[in-house]
Amino acid sequence: MEVVIKNTYEEMSALAAALIADVVRRKPNCVLGLATGSTPVGTYKELIRLHKNEGLDFSKVTTFNLDEYVGLPPEHDQSYHYFMWDNLFKSINANPSKVHVPQGMAPDITAFCQWYEDEIKKAGGVDLQLLGIGGNGHIAFNEPGSSLGSRTRVKTLDDRTIADNARFFKKKSDVPRYAITMGIGTIMDARQLVLLANKETKADAISATVEGPITAMVPATIVQLHPKATIIVDKAASKKLTHEYPAEPRVLRR
Ligand code: F6R
Repeated sequence: MEVVIKNTYEEMSALAAALIADVVRRKPNCVLGLATGSTPVGTYKELIRLHKNEGLDFSKVTTFNLDEYVGLPPEHDQSYHYFMWDNLFKSINANPSKVHVPQGMAPDITAFCQWYEDEIKKAGGVDLQLLGIGGNGHIAFNEPGSSLGSRTRVKTLDDRTIADNARFFKKKSDVPRYAITMGIGTIMDARQLVLLANKETKADAISATVEGPITAMVPATIVQLHPKATIIVDKAASKKLTHEYPAEPRVLRR
């Protein structure tokens, strides 16, 4: 696992986009795992810029999103389906038949979760998985206490996650209680992980993830075991790290 500290959110986002673009250029039919939330918005902006200015081609890329709220239809403006089209897919040449976001309205959620796992396998597995991190150390919606070997399934959201995400809804009680989420085992199967964190509100979670012991109580700590993981943070999110870390990843220094 490699940790990279950037001065700003924009620099963090540019580096994340460069790592993703590198995979897309080397393997045009790659499989990307994507995240929602406020953290990756800058990365998606930069990918859009690379598409428009440098012709970065997404037409053969398959994508799988990490999670979706149960009970929100795709057209709901807080659904992750809507988020992905609004923040990325509509502005690049994404092929709609290659884009996958869990279906929060699936009539049989258990069957849907198995189908999602099977589709990821059929696509050849995820080449690069982009991740944010919750203030409580969650990745996707694998809340503290989630099995470190878990697969795609429904999870109940923690009170902290509901409080954190209430900013996107009119009121806290509008935040869905359940989400479909890739499991920690599903995420760890990706060939490369890129985890992003910015702002001081993530400093404790990043400190535990990078320098703490591996524990299901901080699900992101599992990333320590991944053979090719890069954690990119801005200065504010790095505030509680005690070791020295570089400003560039090895992968772009080759
Ligand atoms: C979203 C996801 C979540 C977020 C996390 C941080 O797809 O998987 O784990 O990455 O909750 O959210 P933000 O970026 O809004 O702080």
